[in-house]
Amino acid sequence: MTVTLSDFRKTKEIMIQEQLALLIQQLEIPMSLKESMHYSLQAGGKRIRPLLLLAVLEGLEKEHDDAYRVAAAIEMIHTYSLVHDDLPSMDDDDLRRGMPTNHKVFGEAVAILAGDALLTYSFGIIARLEHVSSVDKIRLIDLMSLSAGAEGMVGGQVLDIEGEEKQLELAELEQVHRLKTGALLTFSILAGAILGEATPEQMVAYSKFGRHIGIAFQIQDDILDVTGTSEELGKTAGKDESSEKSTYPSLLTLSGAQEKLDHHAAEAMAALREIGGNQERLEQLTQLIVNRKN
Ligand code: IPE
Ligand code: IPE
Ligand code: MG
Ligand code: MG
Ligand code: MG
Repeated sequence: MTVTLSDFRKTKEIMIQEQLALLIQQLEIPMSLKESMHYSLQAGGKRIRPLLLLAVLEGLEKEHDDAYRVAAAIEMIHTYSLVHDDLPSMDDDDLRRGMPTNHKVFGEAVAILAGDALLTYSFGIIARLEHVSSVDKIRLIDLMSLSAGAEGMVGGQVLDIEGEEKQLELAELEQVHRLKTGALLTFSILAGAILGEATPEQMVAYSKFGRHIGIAFQIQDDILDVTGTSEELGKTAGKDESSEKSTYPSLLTLSGAQEKLDHHAAEAMAALREIGGNQERLEQLTQLIVNRKN
């Protein structure tokens, strides 16, 4: 592996940023809607889902002319989920990616509609890809709808909100994490695997990797909500406790949450070995997800 993780991230983040800006710039839509969509996309974020997709392709030693478009579509769905997650009726947050939340700047109506527009646009982007077969586009659209919708992220968000009123059992909490966060993360990985023409056996291993890295990602998010500062996180720290959310630290204490995080990280690493080839980049991203401070 010649390129360091830091250089990989820097180069890819610029390309992702450019792709997102281009896709929004092309739209002929009401100015307030465009500004609102652009605002949350350009506010930054770690771009972990696009990076995972690109790392899968690197591990398969494949390049794909539509990789950045698919990565951007996934980042749009993720960003929409954050805009809606922050609404007063959901987590009621004022700070996101180091900036005032979308509804604070554009008002609730435009924030809701910008989220709707990002979600809908992402499917159109996949439908219009130029270098993917019709069969693979349908596979991508099908998996994307499963992971983002009622059976995936949206269903998980409902369980998460309902978990504010009662203490969930560990198995229920794992289910919330698998759905609200794991589903879309797993899709990023599987989308890279589809573009990179992974074998059916490799798809199974990528799914296992996604399942564990997805849960690990949300456990670390729960831990950082307790241990991080708002400045480091770019979002309000301590929010889960004040809204009495069921989280890994609230259920298991910080050290218990850390143990579960280590377990899922180890399982994710084991899944990478089942893929074969050189999966160093995905190993590095796994370490980043587990050790991140924001
Ligand atoms: C935050 O996601 C919401 C979760 C699913 C935990 P990220 O931590 O990936 O947020 P950004 O994209 O870096 O802002
Ligand atoms: C959000 O989980 C998961 C999403 C699908 C957006 P959180 O509510 O914990 O995410 P943050 O902490 O606000 O980023
Ligand atoms: Mg939430
Ligand atoms: Mg939230
Ligand atoms: Mg959180």
